[in-house]
Amino acid sequence: MTKSLVNQSEISPNGNCKVQKNMQINNYLYSFIYHDTERDLCKLESKYVFEEEEKNRRLLSEIKIEPSSSAFIKNRIDIISFSKDYNVLIDEIKEECICVEGFKVEYLVFDGDKTEYAERLDKLKDVGYSIEGNPDYYDPTINYALCFFKGIWYFGVLIKNKFAWYKHKQKPCSYSNSININIAKALVNIASKGNRDKTLIDACCGVGTIMLEACFAGNDIEGCDINWKVCVDARKNLLHFNYTANIYSSDIKDIRKRYDAAIIDLPYNLLSRASEKDVLHIIESTGEITETLVIVSTSDITNLISEAGFGISDYCSVSKRGKRKFARKIWVCEKN
Ligand SMILES: C[S@@+](CC[C@H](N)C(=O)[O-])C[C@H]1O[C@@H](n2cnc3c(N)ncnc32)[C@H](O)[C@@H]1O
Repeated sequence: MTKSLVNQSEISPNGNCKVQKNMQINNYLYSFIYHDTERDLCKLESKYVFEEEEKNRRLLSEIKIEPSSSAFIKNRIDIISFSKDYNVLIDEIKEECICVEGFKVEYLVFDGDKTEYAERLDKLKDVGYSIEGNPDYYDPTINYALCFFKGIWYFGVLIKNKFAWYKHKQKPCSYSNSININIAKALVNIASKGNRDKTLIDACCGVGTIMLEACFAGNDIEGCDINWKVCVDARKNLLHFNYTANIYSSDIKDIRKRYDAAIIDLPYNLLSRASEKDVLHIIESTGEITETLVIVSTSDITNLISEAGFGISDYCSVSKRGKRKFARKIWVCEKN
């Protein structure tokens, strides 16, 4: 992780601060979006990706993550200037000499910002007139954001989660056992800690829901499933979106390669029922090829996790919405 060029403690008493021209921006202001049932999962993902939990759906961090790699990150502001004094911020933006055609500036309203609508429009004009070039509100080449957060005005480039990964919902082969796409993305981020260089194995990959999200995020992932039919479907799904990843049609016990982390979405219903013995077998076997496990189950398997020689670092539960109510339990485990 690179040390930030600017952070809130570096603001001088008059409240001024500016990122120098041509220097790498490495302070980011994130906004999150999630349903109440996903709050704990979002916080767990945030803890593993940013090394701290988001608070009230906001997070200021030195860590840069693509919003689209998460189901919960709504957008990221790559901070260019910030100041306690609004007029100073405008001067700073002018000094940046930003010259761009087709830009758009958006005002993001954060908690605690009492600025009225009319004043927000005026402020957007101030920023717009500080940038050289013509704006384009409908098809912008670049989005900028202005916001007031915890007593400080921020201006920066706005990177939105375009939710392009929603296309995976139309995968050719589905499975009644398939995990929810938001959970799948969070599992990838927790297992990889947001590091795209980490190698992953989806030990019980089914039709590859988790694998699709790992491939989209840019992680190197392989899959394994004991049921050859679902392996065929998982390969079809990956191919449909032009992703390449190995899928082993095998019992996880027969995999020899090592990985940085494994995700295990355990069998849980009539289609893929597993006894305690089967669950222990899957966890122990996966433990032979990695030190880190992110396990999903609908029943409490804490005793089996410790019996398999793993300690639990974190836990959360996500209730399923809709008619069939149950909770998916998620454990982050490290080998003892
Ligand atoms: C809950 S499903 C996984 C669903 C998957 N995450 C998806 O979204 O499609 C559990 C899977 O574990 C597989 N499985 C059960 N025992 C296994 C074993 N010993 N090795 C590998 N896969 C196994 C089952 O065939 C089943 O497809």
